Amino acid sequence: MRISPRTTARSPSYILPSVIGLCCLSLLFMLYKVNDFATQTRTVAGHNLEPTPWHLFKPKTFNHDALPSRAYKLLQCSYLACRYRNQGNDTEEEEEHRRSATSVAKAPKCPEFFRWIHQDLEPWAKTKISKAHVEEAKRYAAFRVVISQGKLYVDLYYACVQSRAMFTIWGLLQMLKRYPGRVPDVDFMFDCMDKPSIKKTEHVAKPLPLLRYCTNDDHFDIPFPDWSFWGWPETNIEPWTEEFQAIKLGGQETTWRKKELLAYWKGNPDVGSHVREELLNCNDSKTYRAQIMRQDWDEEAKAGFKQSELSKQCNHRYKIYAEGYAWSVSLKYILSCGSLALVITPEYEDFFSRGLFPKVNYWPISPNAICPSIKSAVDWGHGHLAEAQAIGRRGQQYMENLNMDRVYDYMFHLITKYSKLQDFKPVPPRNAMEVCADSVLCLADDSKQREYLEKTRENSVPATPCTLQPPDSNLIKKWKKEKKDVFQTVEDMNLVNEIPGPLP
Ligand SMILES: *[C@@H]1O[C@H](CO)[C@@H](O)[C@H](O)[C@H]1NC(C)=O
Ligand SMILES: *[C@@H]1O[C@H](CO)[C@@H](O)[C@H](O)[C@H]1NC(C)=O
Repeated sequence: MRISPRTTARSPSYILPSVIGLCCLSLLFMLYKVNDFATQTRTVAGHNLEPTPWHLFKPKTFNHDALPSRAYKLLQCSYLACRYRNQGNDTEEEEEHRRSATSVAKAPKCPEFFRWIHQDLEPWAKTKISKAHVEEAKRYAAFRVVISQGKLYVDLYYACVQSRAMFTIWGLLQMLKRYPGRVPDVDFMFDCMDKPSIKKTEHVAKPLPLLRYCTNDDHFDIPFPDWSFWGWPETNIEPWTEEFQAIKLGGQETTWRKKELLAYWKGNPDVGSHVREELLNCNDSKTYRAQIMRQDWDEEAKAGFKQSELSKQCNHRYKIYAEGYAWSVSLKYILSCGSLALVITPEYEDFFSRGLFPKVNYWPISPNAICPSIKSAVDWGHGHLAEAQAIGRRGQQYMENLNMDRVYDYMFHLITKYSKLQDFKPVPPRNAMEVCADSVLCLADDSKQREYLEKTRENSVPATPCTLQPPDSNLIKKWKKEKKDVFQTVEDMNLVNEIPGPLP
């Protein structure tokens, strides 16, 4: 057989350009793939303000010039930040924490309202929580959290509003840091939307475990501290420790006698809340003794949040709380002023509001007759100066007691009790990504997000959680009844006070 000279005598000068060409092509292809991969990567920095049920992760769009660096950054934050950290050897340090944490035996008793943890988990006391329970709850969840051997993994399904997911995950990471070696392995679903979704009427046969920011008697949803305890960058609201101190000081700027004799509310009335819409009708200082102010967050943001500072809204003797689309994070700020909080009886409860009692920490306002009820409360306050002031002070005291130590304790006890109900060993799901403080900081934007995260970063001193009281469902029944009775006496009082009295 003869071999064609053409095939053997191929000049090397062809090879080099083709190799280079091929290399360039595959490099381009790789870059394209990396970008493609990056745009599909879900991160805790999800942001979505579309209506419910909205929150599909949209592929990210990168500005063309910034494309390679942004894509690289995203991948670095998501896939590499925790890995680098893991190479460091911090086991020795952690071991030290564990030793000193167990040697500190003197833990304070948890606040009474922590007993609700038992009540919230009661639906699974007999059945236990199976892996199937958790996986079925996925339908209602924005993400799944698995803690395994002190590491946190997140499987993201939907993007959360603003920085809710980022700050909630951050809170969990700080909790892990506070209690090294003490947080058990756990697997739970979390939803970051406002309203509870596991209706008791629908799910009584098989309650699905789902954590979120609020709940009520009609739902199985398990309440958990909301993101704003670590700050709410989009509204310029600082982490809780700083914000509480600022508001408390703001409240001291005017003495009780000098405070304006009106019930004050400032907020966004356009959030699909009928009580807030109704509240607009009370904006009449003569008839209802109320001043209702509209807040436009977009305008506030443009103006540098000069008019929205919460610490400057403590000059009224009465402060109104009105729920938003569901519970509202504003409750804690309103109570912090030390004014008498007029709380329009809410439909939803968050983890701590269940420990507040009418006429002890606040004055209840009937949601069925908001304006006359406000007027009646203000009139009562004028006639009972010392009592009104004392209730205001106890409301503030309640919020002062709810410091970050207690917030972390609540998270710790809830998660620990929940983990005891699991009848399986949690393992990180295949799609879950490890998240650590470095990866969250890496994803945070340079304005407020990173600042607030840094402020709330736990120093490495291990903490001892407070001691949780045993379950007592009779006590909880008693609390509920007491509240109901007080609501009734106040409603009756409103009827008596129907005749407008003179304003001193
Ligand atoms: C980490 O520290 C432990 C405990 O001192 C030690 O046994 C281990 O070899 C260290 N690992 C690395 C990778 O340095
Ligand atoms: C309520 O009344 C005050 C004073 O009259 C006014 O400045 C304010 O804009 C009113 N609020 C709303 C929501 O209309």
